[in-house]
Amino acid sequence: MKIGVFDSGLGGLLIAKEIRKQLPDYDYVYFGDTLHLPYGVRSMDTIYGYCEKIVDYLFRVQNCQIIIVACNTASAAALRRLQQEYLPTHFPDRRILGVVIPMLEEADDSNIKNLGLIATNYMVGSGIYQEELRKIDPEIEIHQKATPLLVPLIEYEGDEWIDSVLQSYLQPLVEKGIKGLILGCTHYAILEEKLAKLLPENVTILSQHKIIPLKLTDYLQRHPEIETKLTKNNHVSYLLSDITPSYILASERLMQEKITLQKVVL
Ligand code: DGL
Repeated sequence: MKIGVFDSGLGGLLIAKEIRKQLPDYDYVYFGDTLHLPYGVRSMDTIYGYCEKIVDYLFRVQNCQIIIVACNTASAAALRRLQQEYLPTHFPDRRILGVVIPMLEEADDSNIKNLGLIATNYMVGSGIYQEELRKIDPEIEIHQKATPLLVPLIEYEGDEWIDSVLQSYLQPLVEKGIKGLILGCTHYAILEEKLAKLLPENVTILSQHKIIPLKLTDYLQRHPEIETKLTKNNHVSYLLSDITPSYILASERLMQEKITLQKVVL
């Protein structure tokens, strides 16, 4: 059985790539819902509908034992309902994991008390990072900034505008004296170097492509009942719900290699 990694688009490819580096033996399937991108501007019900279809496909057709919802927006809009309603009725022995709680646990472990978060409109509006943070450590402050221009700029290669857009997005967070910045969207990992140049040196960047692979490794060690069901042929497939020439280019840019993309209509 496989490990599924799912995102609204291409950003999760970076997380999938790093997971494979960390855990190369397993079999993977990546699903990018490029047909419905961006999730960050849609309603909760709509995002849930997309996510349920995708996880159902990944479990039924792709035979995944565990799915990482690498998309923050999908984690906020759909994860709890998938775990509490969908999974127990359809696949009680399989697992769906998200990205929000592991990121906050990492911030807590790193003893960062003043956090910034950049994310999509949906993520910021959902307040999910604040809600989960109250359970983990109510003393940690979090300052959020919705950064809706970043995903389109990344997906459609708007490199020449990114620095100035980033600067104006970061300014209010820097003024709040943040000591850590959570990149609350899979796509933002690709901006890590630019962000490091624009942020004060004492701000730690918390990026999912570095943190999620470690958290998954830890999870699999603690859950042999899941780990022993995973097959180990070192295989991966990349599936998208829509493929355009710009997605092909963007995926190569993100992965720094040619990958075979397959279109799947759900
Ligand atoms: N991948 C999504 C996330 O991590 C953002 C992109 C989108 O809006 O679909 O939140």
